[in-house]
Amino acid sequence: MFAERMSRLGTETAFEVLAKARKLEAQGRNIVHLEIGEPDFDTPDNIRKAAVDAIWAGDTHYGPSAGMMPAREAICRYFEKDRGLKYTPDQIILTPGGKPIIFLPILALVDHGDEVIYPNPGYPIYESAINFAGGKAVPLAYTEERDFRFDIAELEAKINPNTRMVIINSPQNPTGGVLEDSDLKRIAELAVENDCIVLSDEVYSKIIYEGEHRTIATYPGMKDRTILLDAHSKTYAMTGWRLGYAAMSTEIAERFAKLNTNVYSHATSFVQTAGIEALEGPQDKVVEMVAIFKERRDAIVDGLNDIKGFSCLRPKGAFYVFPNITETGMKSQEIADKILNEAGVACLSGTCFGSFGEGFIRFSYANSLENINEALSRIKKLMEG
Ligand SMILES: Cc1ncc(COP(=O)(O)O)c(C=O)c1O
Repeated sequence: MFAERMSRLGTETAFEVLAKARKLEAQGRNIVHLEIGEPDFDTPDNIRKAAVDAIWAGDTHYGPSAGMMPAREAICRYFEKDRGLKYTPDQIILTPGGKPIIFLPILALVDHGDEVIYPNPGYPIYESAINFAGGKAVPLAYTEERDFRFDIAELEAKINPNTRMVIINSPQNPTGGVLEDSDLKRIAELAVENDCIVLSDEVYSKIIYEGEHRTIATYPGMKDRTILLDAHSKTYAMTGWRLGYAAMSTEIAERFAKLNTNVYSHATSFVQTAGIEALEGPQDKVVEMVAIFKERRDAIVDGLNDIKGFSCLRPKGAFYVFPNITETGMKSQEIADKILNEAGVACLSGTCFGSFGEGFIRFSYANSLENINEALSRIKKLMEG
């Protein structure tokens, strides 16, 4: 009944777990939600006001597929200030959320049989998009022993002339791992040697607790072969607004804009205008949010390490923890289900992020300290009696 390609499309199970949790809530159960990856803060007032003003000013019409010129110019200014990279507006694309910057470039660049190296455990949409495009998904393990970075030797062994693209994500979902400069340098060298594109997912670029975020696009030979993906969603608590942006070579941007034209035309006009305010207005709310995330990170890491059978690294970025649960003797899915059904805490099995996520579960700490502490005490009671 459906096209064959649909059998190759994956999904994001966080939404399924949310539905399961909501069903339990409908039956009267109290659930602490640590499954969904979205800031629990409201979008800052200046951004909300900018959107309302933009509606009244008439930003309610069709615009260019790549994004409105003032928005693209603002993103050029932002990338220059924030990442030290000079782009021109014809190298910038805006999209409804960051997600299309995974799916559409893969459709544009990956042919049948082309290899794409991607993080595993990793954001599930990478594998889904590669398979859907007919590419060969080549997982690269981000391991606990390496602080949730990958082993360069493994990348060296996997990259070859058939590799069309390498996807990296730092800070990372689901582990909170952050790649080091030495990792980026070596990936860049290998990408140049093997003539491949790097899709660098930097949607958590501002949610980082140690050091500064650096993009691979700044390494020699990388600017034109990197698709730099960022979004307003996590940085400005704007998940529901759907606004993402990316920088890339002019050639790729042209094809990307054509895909935009075919799928959704462009990101919502007044949302793009509000997005300029987000990037160029006061940043104090972002700083505040990151400080609160850091406090929660420490609470959840300490709490999980105090539960029998759990051991949890202290991630350097994003708002997730990825504790190792192998000592409990249970499988990831089994323990995630048990924690939801018996303790009323929604979390995700590590396997939602690929097969190498077995042995782990993911908690999002984008929730209040009070709820995090409640979740920890429920899980401790469940595991220790
Ligand atoms: C690593 C990563 N990339 C991209 C996205 C997509 O973000 P958006 O909501 O802007 O589409 C997410 C969202 O969870 C993510 O975790």
